[in-house]
Amino acid sequence: MAGHDAIDVIRAKRDGSELTADQIGWVIGAYTGGAVPDEQMSALLMAIFFRGMSPDELAAWTQAMIDSGERKDLSALGRPTADKHSTGGVGDKITLPLAPLVAACGVAVPQLSGRGLGHTGGTLDKLESIPGWQADVHEDAYLRQLREVGAVICAAGHDLAPADKLLYALRDVTGTVESIPLIASSIMSKKIAEGADALVLDVKTGSGAFMKNADDARTLARTMVGLGEAAGVRTVALVTAMDRPLGRTAGNAVEVAESVEVLAGGGPADVVELTLALAREMLAGAGRGDVDPADALRDGRAMDVWRRMIAAQGGDPDAPLPQPAERHVVTAPATGTLTRLDSYALGVAAWRLGAGRARKEDPVQAAAGVTWTAGVGERVTAGQPLLELQTDDAGRIPRALEALEGAIGIDTGEQPLPLVLDRIE
Ligand code: URA
Repeated sequence: MAGHDAIDVIRAKRDGSELTADQIGWVIGAYTGGAVPDEQMSALLMAIFFRGMSPDELAAWTQAMIDSGERKDLSALGRPTADKHSTGGVGDKITLPLAPLVAACGVAVPQLSGRGLGHTGGTLDKLESIPGWQADVHEDAYLRQLREVGAVICAAGHDLAPADKLLYALRDVTGTVESIPLIASSIMSKKIAEGADALVLDVKTGSGAFMKNADDARTLARTMVGLGEAAGVRTVALVTAMDRPLGRTAGNAVEVAESVEVLAGGGPADVVELTLALAREMLAGAGRGDVDPADALRDGRAMDVWRRMIAAQGGDPDAPLPQPAERHVVTAPATGTLTRLDSYALGVAAWRLGAGRARKEDPVQAAAGVTWTAGVGERVTAGQPLLELQTDDAGRIPRALEALEGAIGIDTGEQPLPLVLDRIE
């Protein structure tokens, strides 16, 4: 792939020409290898932001990102594999009950996850509130756990689409995150490289989501499904509501506790519904559409896998979870039907209480978060406790309360979105 010049590639994209697969492979490889500097890649990303990418360009861009690292081969496991990705939301703890549930139904789940940034929580941050649990799993231990337990949720290694780590960091500081082709290729390069046979995408829409508007969420979902199918991964996306948060908790330890309730056969109805909907899609994609995951939730098999999955990574599934030093209750301001519990506001409140981080290197508080006693559509009575803010640092409470101003709507006649808006294949 010699003979390319970054300036020619930038100019071609800037002027609306279609880049060749060769040009794309070269520029991603040269950028990852340090031969193309950040300023040239920034210009190219901005040109892509404005010009978009054709389906062929996008497929080549995604493939080049996969090829910057290693595409894992899980065929030696001898059983089907399925993975799930959520574009992120508030109170979205679904991965925690979902991975052991699908594993309990005979499909292995290799779930490489990330940490939270901003108002959406990170799966690894949540699991790290379990005493002893380790996010880093060595390659050999990863395969052994997949074989013996059937599910692993851990940090992605450095060999998984390394170009994405560099590109994502650059997009973050150059105003080029909000581009559907760049988001789709970023997510799908990592998911395809993970090596699962089937993939289910949970594309969120609403105030607490990346894609505020349902049409953008559908376009992103369609783009990602196309990339997955082209790479030989059976891919389905559900577009789901994030105008209100999921379940009754947003934070770290509180979300683990709620996930354990779901695994014990209880938990909030929306978390159970979405966990089962995604589990059914994962099982169908992996060729086990005849298995009903509700049985494995009811009879305790999913809980057994959860306990083994946590213990395999050093965690104690029986250890008490950390409790906050400070709690602050917010009461319902009126009597009526709760029509709005704004997920973005709740996410920001949980973040300000210490559950999330503003910079990659910041620590998080295991016990920080927000819990609520009623979901959208339920009746509430003036003065009843509605929200509880939890933190180790009382000084954080006023700023969290500021974030919640205007977040609660009672009996205003607003219609909430249905939980699952669309299915795209
Ligand atoms: N998540 C990713 O992994 N990449 C993006 O570009 C956006 C969200």
